[in-house]
Amino acid sequence: MARITAGLTTSHVPAIGAALDLGKSTSEYWQPVFSGYDWAKRWIAEEKPDVIVLVYNDHASAFSLEIITTFAIGCAESFAPADEGFGPRPVPVVQGHPDLAWHIAQSTILDEFDMTIVNKMDVDHGLTVPLSLVFGQPEAWPARVIPVPVNVVQYPPPTGNRCWELGEAIRRAVESYEEDLNVQIWGTGGMSHQLQGPRAGLINREFDISFLDRLTSDPEALRRMPHIEYVREAGSEAIELVMWLIMRGAMGDNPKELHRFYHVPASNTALGHIVMEPGR
Ligand SMILES: [Fe+2]
Repeated sequence: MARITAGLTTSHVPAIGAALDLGKSTSEYWQPVFSGYDWAKRWIAEEKPDVIVLVYNDHASAFSLEIITTFAIGCAESFAPADEGFGPRPVPVVQGHPDLAWHIAQSTILDEFDMTIVNKMDVDHGLTVPLSLVFGQPEAWPARVIPVPVNVVQYPPPTGNRCWELGEAIRRAVESYEEDLNVQIWGTGGMSHQLQGPRAGLINREFDISFLDRLTSDPEALRRMPHIEYVREAGSEAIELVMWLIMRGAMGDNPKELHRFYHVPASNTALGHIVMEPGR
């Protein structure tokens, strides 16, 4: 049977992708950011996941205000890097896993989650930057990826609790898939950031550290945190953190934090990264 063997969270700051693509990852500014992922690079080379269920948000690349999907799942054979205004990132095409993706779609929809099934989609920095941070610059991504885009761009995004419950449903789905696959689930986005207005550049280190702590020490509190608290405490774009709760919901009771990295600033935002193994 397929198993969820690990969860990973990371910010998906677009400037990180640009820094890597433009050969600036060893510069004085960016080296501390990239070195924070050295542990994950070594770890994942040993873990060798077959498939990554990658939760992220599209930033008006594949979707627009014409169609706003709350929860979607990419069931295509492959997903090309999106052109976000400067041409597509020079990264490999993402190979999907249609059989498992359709199985997750069926299982979660019959589990009463109204997923949008996406059969053609380009993927933007929300998905490719986490892959770059953890895998570097390979010729081909070493794992298949099932994209799970979540709307956190247009109000109203889903609640943290609903995200948590979707994570639980994704775990049930994966664990009912017959093929023996090593599956990870990643939640991306966050942490503190506000991109516009008088509070642009807001960073609340105390909130971020508390959020990282509570992922393992008090997840129930995070599950109930209202949207306004994310926005007030950590900036309007910090609402992306609800996507981390999809990963956390898939981890079950008492997961173990294996690794943590926190760094400020990374292009006007706070950057957070956690790796955990599921409890039961
Ligand atoms: Fe984002």
